[in-house]
Amino acid sequence: MKWRTFIFVVAAAVFCLGFGAGVREQSLREAAQGSGMLIGAAVRPAQLSEAAYASTLAREFNMLEPEDALKWEVVHPEPQSFDFSQADEIVDFATRHGMKVRGHTLVWHQQNPKWLTEGKYTSGELAEILEKHIKTVVGHYRGKIFAWDVVNEAFDELHPGELRGTIWRDQPGIGLAANGYSYIERCFRWAHEADPQALLFYNEAEAEVVNPKSDAIYAMVRDFRQRGVPIDGVGFQMHIANLHADVASISANIGRFTSLGVQVHITEMDVALPVDANGNANPEDLQRQADIYRQIASACLSHRGCTAIQTWGFTDKYSWIGSHSKHTQGAALLFDQNYRAKPAYWALRNTLAAR
Ligand code: XIL
Repeated sequence: MKWRTFIFVVAAAVFCLGFGAGVREQSLREAAQGSGMLIGAAVRPAQLSEAAYASTLAREFNMLEPEDALKWEVVHPEPQSFDFSQADEIVDFATRHGMKVRGHTLVWHQQNPKWLTEGKYTSGELAEILEKHIKTVVGHYRGKIFAWDVVNEAFDELHPGELRGTIWRDQPGIGLAANGYSYIERCFRWAHEADPQALLFYNEAEAEVVNPKSDAIYAMVRDFRQRGVPIDGVGFQMHIANLHADVASISANIGRFTSLGVQVHITEMDVALPVDANGNANPEDLQRQADIYRQIASACLSHRGCTAIQTWGFTDKYSWIGSHSKHTQGAALLFDQNYRAKPAYWALRNTLAAR
């Protein structure tokens, strides 16, 4: 090799190495900066002490939501006592890393403590208990939790479009069972009194497409907006099974809700895949999963009022899909069990970066 060629090759190598070290791939939260999209993950506080968990979370996301730590059974374990320790840890973590926090959830029919469900309370007593719960929890996080899922999954699966029978509505309910969804209205008003700045969401499962359930929610939200009930948004959970997502219908649905003047948040996205005994999915499915993440992100980005995309966890190491499906399904999230980015991650990252 001639001297000139040798010097050229060495110089080129040094340049490439330096360039490679200096240019790091953009994270999700960096890629989301252009569009202003909030990009979130549901979080389990016990895992925050795991270095890879904490560093991935802080690097990639600009929003967090406690997966279980704000549910009644955790935060209100006894009639007279609240336990904010787990949720406080998550809020502290978010503050240290410049992240917003969504609160989930104030009113639900699941994960309620026995003292409540077996307490044989009258409607009057239940109303007092619920008002105190909402005001105490929202008040504790006033100015720290920017958006709340005030009511979760109030509409029924088996009788589409109808309200579910729950301890809050009619078993025995807070005294408003005869008045349709007015018990939900009461909850939004209590939450608003406790933190007038917080954005208040109605959150629902299997209502992401146009269907009888989302029709019923749409009618309720339109009515709330017309009468000045303080509602700011609707959360669509987006737990996707069978690798099937009717993206055109999802986009139309997001469009009709944002046209009411409320925001839409995708609140609990995951795309469950069939897995082997080690929890691994096959490469074709991982690619199809990536396509779904990309299409849903594009649908959200195409509506100005769709302001957040959140996944239900972020690493396949910790996801509710495993226990929920008796471990036949899994691999539903953006990072694998070793915190390596999956095709779904790159699909979402590149879709965000393109805006
Ligand atoms: C799930 C959690 O991920 C699990 O850890 C828990 O055992 C059960 O609840 N819809 C919701 C979430 O609104 O609160 C649920 O979270 C998943 C379905």
